[in-house]
Amino acid sequence: MSATARKTALNAQDIRALKGERPIVSLTAYTTPMARLMDEHCDFVLVGDSVGMVLHGLSSTLGVTMEMMILHGAAVSRGLSHAMMVIDMPFGSYEESPQQAFRNAARLMAETGAAAVKLEGGVEMGETIRFLVKRGIPVMAHIGLTPQAINTLGGYKVQGRAEGAAPLIADAHAVTEAGAFAVVLEKVPATLADQVTSEITIPTIGIGASAGCDGQVLVVDDMLGFFTSFKPKFVKRYAELGPAAEEAIADYAAEVRARTFPAPEHTFADHAPKKD
Ligand code: KIV
Repeated sequence: MSATARKTALNAQDIRALKGERPIVSLTAYTTPMARLMDEHCDFVLVGDSVGMVLHGLSSTLGVTMEMMILHGAAVSRGLSHAMMVIDMPFGSYEESPQQAFRNAARLMAETGAAAVKLEGGVEMGETIRFLVKRGIPVMAHIGLTPQAINTLGGYKVQGRAEGAAPLIADAHAVTEAGAFAVVLEKVPATLADQVTSEITIPTIGIGASAGCDGQVLVVDDMLGFFTSFKPKFVKRYAELGPAAEEAIADYAAEVRARTFPAPEHTFADHAPKKD
């Protein structure tokens, strides 16, 4: 698809300039219809590697591939005309070297129309972020709980408590100095999120952080209540679409079995009326 055909009203510089002006609104999206629904309401839409867990049934984000991100990124791109699109770099696509990161980031942007990439890591990713930004790739950083590192973090734990605070603050400064235009703070204590937000010059985007962050992001399927058995503390459910969908499916199944669906209004006559 032609990436240039898509016109987004917002870009990385616009998002960065929102710090101190007004809260930045973001959600994840993985499909065209969902992207369409959020386009007018979000400043940026994140094609998160959470797609692997949300839509593909993976148990972590580690199995997400470049091909999966490109497929979903291109779909989301077709649903956006106002919000900026940011796409996650999947595990293993950027950690090896700045050159590897550039190759894969350029491919993600060229083949999806994304206006920026997001990658996980702080101090250790500084050199890579600088390399990408200098070569025309806007980077959103992601620190605190970085789900691609659950095996070294020991699970989906809150990050930055007690002696963990200083390294997290160092990460925030490192990604800022490297040229990231914004940074996601995931699952960090609220006071620490506030401190980081006041210390750095780029917007902080909270998820399980604090209302004092410069913006917020949530996984859309979580906030719409698609999953009944999964409810992290930081997710507010704005709807309960999972149970509503299941009820509708059960009604349909019952009506098919009772032969009450399709009803006459859903079937076609022998002779064509003016409009079918
Ligand atoms: O993959 C994802 O969805 C994310 C966020 C929710 C921050 O990285």
